Parts: sequence; structure tokens; C-alpha cells
Amino acid sequence: MNVYWHYLQIVCTFLALQYVNTLSHLPKSGKCPETKYHDWDYLVFSQRWPITACLLWEEKKEGNACDMPPAMATWNVHGIWPTKTGMEGPFCCPSAIHFDPTQLQPFLTDLNNNWTNIEGGTKEYSFWRHEWEKHGTCASVSPFLNSIQNYFRQGLEWNKQYKLSNILEQSKIVAGTSGYSPGQIFDAVKSVIKVKPTIQCEVDHKTKESMISEIRICFNKSLEPIDCDHSDSVTSGAAITNCDLNKPVMYFSEMPSTDMSYEVDYIDDGFRQHFEEQMYYLQVYKFLKFIIWFTT
Ligand SMILES: *[C@@H]1O[C@H](CO)[C@@H](O)[C@H](O)[C@H]1NC(C)=O
Ligand SMILES: *[C@@H]1O[C@H](CO)[C@@H](O)[C@H](O)[C@H]1NC(C)=O
Repeated sequence: MNVYWHYLQIVCTFLALQYVNTLSHLPKSGKCPETKYHDWDYLVFSQRWPITACLLWEEKKEGNACDMPPAMATWNVHGIWPTKTGMEGPFCCPSAIHFDPTQLQPFLTDLNNNWTNIEGGTKEYSFWRHEWEKHGTCASVSPFLNSIQNYFRQGLEWNKQYKLSNILEQSKIVAGTSGYSPGQIFDAVKSVIKVKPTIQCEVDHKTKESMISEIRICFNKSLEPIDCDHSDSVTSGAAITNCDLNKPVMYFSEMPSTDMSYEVDYIDDGFRQHFEEQMYYLQVYKFLKFIIWFTT
């Protein structure tokens, strides 16, 4: 054995360690992406239409099924999102309050009914954990939202206070098979709550129909309703919306027939993560092969 051989082994080990070190900086699964800023100006209370949420979940991946709330055609809570004017988030703030499912036990039924984890097959508390970690941790600087219980109770409270089905019905907007213009929906909500909401749509990947997905109401730090004007949604005319203004917005009262199979024509996060993991193992494998080749 010559000295060169030992020297080469040491160099290889060093390189290998360096290499593994770079790889370990790959994004870790499930990590909450913290923003550089933690301050916010107002709160966005988002309610979602369960039927659209379910369609999106089913289209996201083949085999996905939904856990629908008992009242499927009732507006359901998505979350309370602290927002900095002109920005998205903050997200994932450093907070001493770690998500603890036992805190939710006293009102678990209300959560299941009205703040439903529609995404079937996910862990029981995963949706609420996500909302707390991403948004609740940032909201918790508010004296009104300074605990897990206060945060989730406030969402349920607003869901009860702002019953969107009733609000829309006052302008004769009812779930069914007719479509409405984004402006009609916006005006209907605004005429009742007296401030400007945000109207969000999603496009069905198969039918290309525009479907109502979320209606958001904004609140200031005293929890008083305010215009959502300053959110960064696409503004067009008087309505604040991301909906296609040239298409009717569908507001389905039941799941459209699902006998067609949807094609997944976009790369979702789960897929990307899977792909990144595959790449990681491939790189490690290649490197080991290289070492073996080099040292034998
Ligand atoms: C939740 O929804 C049910 C109906 O689905 C309703 O009876 C109940 O009062 C709601 N609870 C809260 C806290 O909003
Ligand atoms: C919130 O809005 C209400 C009503 O417009 C106003 O009286 C109150 O001062 C506002 N609070 C904050 C913190 O901006």
C-alpha cells in the first residue's frame, strides 16, 4: 500500500462529507416557510365553498377523496390570515405557542362541522395544525388571537356571524347550476357587510369553468371589518377578485358528476417534493458508484 492510496481515501472522504453537507440543505419536508417580516396590518378571514374545495382536492391527485362537512353546501372556514399591506403573509412566525390538538377538544365538533379538513386521507389535525403554524403563530401577537383556542374560536365565531349563504341569498344568489358575475357576488356581499370583500375563483381543470372558491372579509386590528382594497389580488373595476371577468362564476350546490377522470396537468407540491427526494437518492447513489469505481 502506498501513501498515495491513503491520501486519496482521505480526500474522497472529505469530498463525500462536503457533498452530503450540501445535500442536507435541501428543503425539508413539512417545514413552515418563515417570512423575513413578522408584522402585519390587517386580518383576512377566508371562508371556502366546500364543493369547490373538494373538486380541487380530487383533481390534485388521482385517488384523492374528500371528507365533506355534514352541511356540504354551507360556507366553511379556511383560516384567519394576518396580512401586511401589499404583501402576502407574514407566515410561520416564531411563537412560543406550539400547536397542541388537546386545545381543540372542547369545540372539536364545531371545527369538524364548520372548519372542516376536507382533504381526506390527511391526518386528523393536519389542516388546523397548518393554519396555526402558518398563520396563527403570526396572528398570536393580537390580544384577541393570542392562544390556539382564541384563534380557532374567532374563526368559528365569524363563520356564524357572516353566514355567506344567507348574505348571498339576499341578492338572490343561490347555489345551483346558474352562474353569476364576479361583480354580482362582490356587490351582494358588500351590500350586507358594508365593506369590500375579496372574491376568489378556481378554474376546473377539466371543464375550464370558473368556480367560486373563497370569499374573504378583512378586519383591522380591533377586529372591525374594513375594505380588502389593499390586498394584492387582481383588482378590476370595483370588484376585488381573481375571477375571470368574462366567465360566469359557478356556485354548485352539489358535486358535479365525477364519472370523468381528471388529468393532472400541473405539478403540485407533493409531486415536486417526491421528485426532489428521488433526485437526492439518485445523487447519493451516483456518488457512491463513483467512489466505488474510483477506489477499486
Ligand atoms: C357549526 O355548524 C353547525 C351546522 O353545520 C351549526 O349548527 C353550529 O352552530 C355551527 N357552530 C359554530 C360554532 O359555528
Ligand atoms: C378599526 O376600525 C374601526 C372602525 O372603522 C375604528 O374605529 C378603529 O379605530 C380601527 N382600529 C384600528 C386599530 O385601526
